[in-house]
Amino acid sequence: MCGIIGILGNDSVAMQLVDALKRLEYRGYDSAGVATLEGGVLTRCRAEGKLTNLEQRLGSEHLAGVSGIGHTRWATHGAPTEINAHPHMNARVAVVHNGIIENFRALRAELTEAGIAIETDTDTEVVAHLVAHEMAGGASPEEAVGKVLPRLEGAFALAFLFDGHDDLMIGARRGSPLAIGYGDGTMYVGSDAIALAPFTDRIAYLEDGDWAVVRRSGVHIYEESGAEVQRPVRQSQTSALLVDKGNFRHFMAKEIHEQPEVVSHTLARYLDLNAMKTRLPDDLPFDFRTLNRIAISACGTAFYAGLVAKYWFERFARLPVDIDIASEFRYREMPLEPNGLSLFVSQSGETADTLASLRYCKQEGQHIAAIVNVEESTIARESDVIFPTLAGPEIGVASTKAFTCQLAVLTALAIAAGRARGHLSEEDERKLVEALVEIPRFAAQALRLEPQIERLAKTFSHASDVLYLGRGTSYPLAMEGALKLKEISYIHAEGYAAGELKHGPIALIDETLPVVVIAPYDRIFDKTVSNMQEVAARGGRIVLMTDPKGAEAASIDALETLVLPDMPATITPIVYALPVQLLAYHVAVFMGTDVDQPRNLAKSVTVE
Ligand code: AGP
Repeated sequence: MCGIIGILGNDSVAMQLVDALKRLEYRGYDSAGVATLEGGVLTRCRAEGKLTNLEQRLGSEHLAGVSGIGHTRWATHGAPTEINAHPHMNARVAVVHNGIIENFRALRAELTEAGIAIETDTDTEVVAHLVAHEMAGGASPEEAVGKVLPRLEGAFALAFLFDGHDDLMIGARRGSPLAIGYGDGTMYVGSDAIALAPFTDRIAYLEDGDWAVVRRSGVHIYEESGAEVQRPVRQSQTSALLVDKGNFRHFMAKEIHEQPEVVSHTLARYLDLNAMKTRLPDDLPFDFRTLNRIAISACGTAFYAGLVAKYWFERFARLPVDIDIASEFRYREMPLEPNGLSLFVSQSGETADTLASLRYCKQEGQHIAAIVNVEESTIARESDVIFPTLAGPEIGVASTKAFTCQLAVLTALAIAAGRARGHLSEEDERKLVEALVEIPRFAAQALRLEPQIERLAKTFSHASDVLYLGRGTSYPLAMEGALKLKEISYIHAEGYAAGELKHGPIALIDETLPVVVIAPYDRIFDKTVSNMQEVAARGGRIVLMTDPKGAEAASIDALETLVLPDMPATITPIVYALPVQLLAYHVAVFMGTDVDQPRNLAKSVTVE
């Protein structure tokens, strides 16, 4: 995750930019930099490491400009060195970027072909040169950015400055957040309201695909089609240290929509995007090659993430996995392999049952590893090694972005285990990592189903029960979908392996029972079609989540078919989680329940 800030000010902005970057350090801090316009000329100062290093350097290399952009980095492409630090620039353009440009290699080759020298290992640099190249051809800054943005693939937030234009800043977002701050005769762009809090509490959030031409007199916002749009200016939280809901009605909605970005940043922690291979810490306290089994324990949504991982560890690494919900695991006294690995998954890192299971395994001499979203939590502190998710604060009690980030980490671990144990070739690993890198793009596309899902949600409001079905890695997702629905809408739901339907649950089927079938087209899809026909034959109302091949092959009269893009099988549990979450959310909104704080629940269950 990275943090970006831009200011069109009336006095020196360099240290204002640094102040804003300090509020964004939670998004990453392996290097930082600012660029300002002094007499219309772009000048830059960058430093490796913590923000204090940049602050010290600015003390000697004073930048006087009153327009500027700044960036605090968590490296995705290119080592966290000064030369790879943002802003990236040339004589005409300076840019800061949060996200991943997936097609940067092809763009870099095009620029090299055109004789443009590339100085860094980053994806961002190509954006500066593409825009400058368009301007060299006579395009204005606005025209140049408008031409370049459609050529970029991936999730990003960008802020640009232009040589000779000290009353112009351009911001753009696709998948990573970007806010516009309204001052008095000054204007701002930033990753979130927290960054903008020192300057203004009047904030407008860009929507996906938007880009904004910002001047001190105001802003013009354009959507992807190029049409000008208005985005509401809101009063952000007075105490901006509180996480802000942005344009969303609930934290859960915001967190569902953050997933393309936070999954992207989580993946960047565990993937080498230049070599397209997994990248784990060198000093792991265990060796995948010597393990005979892995024990996984978690609760609720985190348990379903672990259940998906069981398929992956066993398929990619041929590593058997024992998994159980922590409240059972801690009392089962499961026989554990000497010198074995016990893996714990927890968003909060404080769940009592999971912590108790961890302590049981520790006294049994296991290596303890944890996947947590709160790095200073109790579970994190008591583990031998942690694999953090970079989901950012998850406020909604119903877990969403933490779940998909957990799956992202678990996939990377399973691939790394497979490679270490010799069951995955270098080519196998590259293909799997390429699939992971596409998740943000597919996730952003999945979010576009929201209007269809919102309309569908109303039909669920009369149901007293809902059945979710899935096979393979869609089976844990079926259980997660049922959990999401029941915990926020209070409608009872159950997730089942589709193959188990005829062993009892089929007795439930009638025209009052919605059946959600999660089934991307794969080698066992036809088996699920048979299950759907059994449901349809008894009047059951089917909602099918599939891809174009599945929609064509299903040939059933579904109540609704949600068609996601065709994608590699490895990433379907992560991408299909989004429509599953959206369905639960919109049913709950329709039911009028307290979506962010459902009755009887707590965000972290710190009691048995
Ligand atoms: C998920 O939506 C629920 N809020 C709940 O099941 C949760 O996943 C469970 O309590 C585990 O919490 P943890 O990830 O913080 O350990």
